[in-house]
Amino acid sequence: MAYSNKVIDHYEHPRNVGSLDKGDASVGTGIVGAPACGDVMKLQIKVENGVITDAKFKTYGCGSAIASSSLVTEWVKGMSVDQAMQIKNSQIAEELSLPPVKIHCSVLAEDAIKAAIRDFQQKQGAPGSEGESKH
Ligand code: FES
Ligand code: FES
Repeated sequence: MAYSNKVIDHYEHPRNVGSLDKGDASVGTGIVGAPACGDVMKLQIKVENGVITDAKFKTYGCGSAIASSSLVTEWVKGMSVDQAMQIKNSQIAEELSLPPVKIHCSVLAEDAIKAAIRDFQQKQGAPGSEGESKH
């Protein structure tokens, strides 16, 4: 199976690799693993006034997982937390033209951004974060 050009581009030139300070109250950290293959993805966001101003990732995994996390960190910068929460793995898979066996790699990226947002919200004491019914 051949990787798409976009996967190869993000794999060879990953955007936003690195770490943000976990102790910073404006930083949310999400760490997720894929049971299917054992790959692990760490994704962090920095939020200022409800807008994601920075994002970093570290992924121990396949090319598609690295490309998915690289793409997501690019997408979320400048998004509101609510917008980032709407990102679907299907959008990632479509952008990267992932084949069916690599769909779970994009699921990992969706799970990681959601986990990072939840971590950030918990740090805020998040009065609004448990109110699913409000949306
Ligand atoms: Fe883990 Fe993809 S199976 S690298
Ligand atoms: Fe498992 Fe890509 S994350 S093969």
